[in-house]
Amino acid sequence: MELKPGLSALVTGGASGIGKALSLALGAKGIFVTVVDLSEEKGKEVASLVQKENANFHTSLGFPSALFVKCDVTDTGNIAAAFEKHLATFGGLDICINSAGIINPIPFHKDQTDGTRSWRLTVNLNLIAVIDCTRLAIKTMQAVKKPGVIINMGSAAGLYPLDGDPIYSGSKGGVVQFTRSLVPYKHKGIRINVLCPEFVERTDMGLKAGSKFVSIMGGFVRMEMVVKGAFELITDESKAGSCLWITNRRGMEYWPTPAEEAKYLISQTKRAVTNAPIFQAPLNLQLPQSFEKLVVHTLSHNFRNATGVVRTPLRLPIKPDHVLVKVIYAGVNASDVNYSSGRYFSGSNKDLESQLPFDCGFEAVGIIAAVGESVTNLKVGTPAAIMTFGSYAEFTMVPSKHILPVERPDPEVVAMLTSGLTASIALEKVKCMRMYSRKIMCSPKTVSAHICICVSELHIISFAEFLVVTFR
Ligand SMILES: NC(=O)c1ccc[n+]([C@@H]2O[C@H](COP(=O)([O-])OP(=O)(O)OC[C@H]3O[C@@H](n4cnc5c(N)ncnc54)[C@H](O)[C@@H]3O)[C@@H](O)[C@H]2O)c1
Repeated sequence: MELKPGLSALVTGGASGIGKALSLALGAKGIFVTVVDLSEEKGKEVASLVQKENANFHTSLGFPSALFVKCDVTDTGNIAAAFEKHLATFGGLDICINSAGIINPIPFHKDQTDGTRSWRLTVNLNLIAVIDCTRLAIKTMQAVKKPGVIINMGSAAGLYPLDGDPIYSGSKGGVVQFTRSLVPYKHKGIRINVLCPEFVERTDMGLKAGSKFVSIMGGFVRMEMVVKGAFELITDESKAGSCLWITNRRGMEYWPTPAEEAKYLISQTKRAVTNAPIFQAPLNLQLPQSFEKLVVHTLSHNFRNATGVVRTPLRLPIKPDHVLVKVIYAGVNASDVNYSSGRYFSGSNKDLESQLPFDCGFEAVGIIAAVGESVTNLKVGTPAAIMTFGSYAEFTMVPSKHILPVERPDPEVVAMLTSGLTASIALEKVKCMRMYSRKIMCSPKTVSAHICICVSELHIISFAEFLVVTFR
């Protein structure tokens, strides 16, 4: 989602610390904000600062560009009313940030109370209220049938133990796993992610940590880094159920790493026994605003004269049943020149000319970079092969039914597409005819034969001399 003026966001715990910084950063992009907090004085002040930021983008709106709603997020009726007020004022909800949270005020083992004001409250606020706010945000976003992003504030203490506050650590661990389990909502247009910083500068929580402890951890996380992380989770369409860990010593990292994840993820199709390392999709699968592709602008058998590179906008969202493929290798096919000269089209010269410019390239392998909302069988990061027009491009939009998931986005896969297909048809025919022996048949597609079939032994021999174009 592009952060642009006119979107709206609801931020719980927006009156101070991280919630305040995020509210102001959203306001600086011209985004309307509802600040939800217990603290009236600080909350009103943040709302008025957001309004000032918004004044640079909007005039005569007829409604306030920022609201403060006094609310206890652990009270379900209270928080539901805050979402309703937001919807009634801004007509939708694009972003929800659940930042309200506390550390456990009394050491767990010394607590003689029933926990209503201590450990129960910490769990209620840090975990139960986050679940409730996520539920209400989804409901609000679905009511207006628009895509949305939810960010839950986890903590590094939700990834690894914090001996000093097991209740806080346990509640944040819950937020992390709750959010990571919400990946499927991306098919409904809602991406829910969790942000896990270590101690953040200029926050009460950070100050309570003690300077020695913070220094062992490499120093405070800068607030700008937290804002940057949150904005990445909002803008990067590939992020859903993603957990962004932020430390001052290592920077921003997604947790767990794909290698860690591979230890426990069970594939639906059993992986063939192979020595090849498991493919790991790049961590920074960022979607650009535009991309480059080759188009045929002149009908000619001379491919160089026929084509040119153009930059084209990446139009989002994707059609519901389509996926966006980031092309890594595209195959050069002998038929490219037939296609660029218009031989695959019927009609008069004038009819042919009217088709220009058109996309070209027949075969490619890459990674799925985004999926349409009705696509349930494919996910972002899956290596995929395609045999559709438009493969000479950095990105290409393809109906999901045309996607061939593959083990790895390697160049060898490209050789097995059109050429492999023709070879397999030939093989089928040969098997039926049962009459040739010891004869090499070339794949009819190219003179330099990507793949040959040794008929008598029914072996497929791949000549690794195929050409590939790299878009890495
Ligand atoms: N500060 C850090 O170092 C740090 C590190 C990692 C994660 N976090 C998490 O980030 C979030 C924000 O932390 P912060 O440091 O900005 O905290 P903060 O104390 O500065 O802000 C929290 C806000 O939540 C509000 N709040 C508390 N209880 C509420 C309730 N019942 N209903 C509504 N609002 C309530 C408070 O009034 C306050 O304005 C928390 O969830 C925290 O656990 C903080």
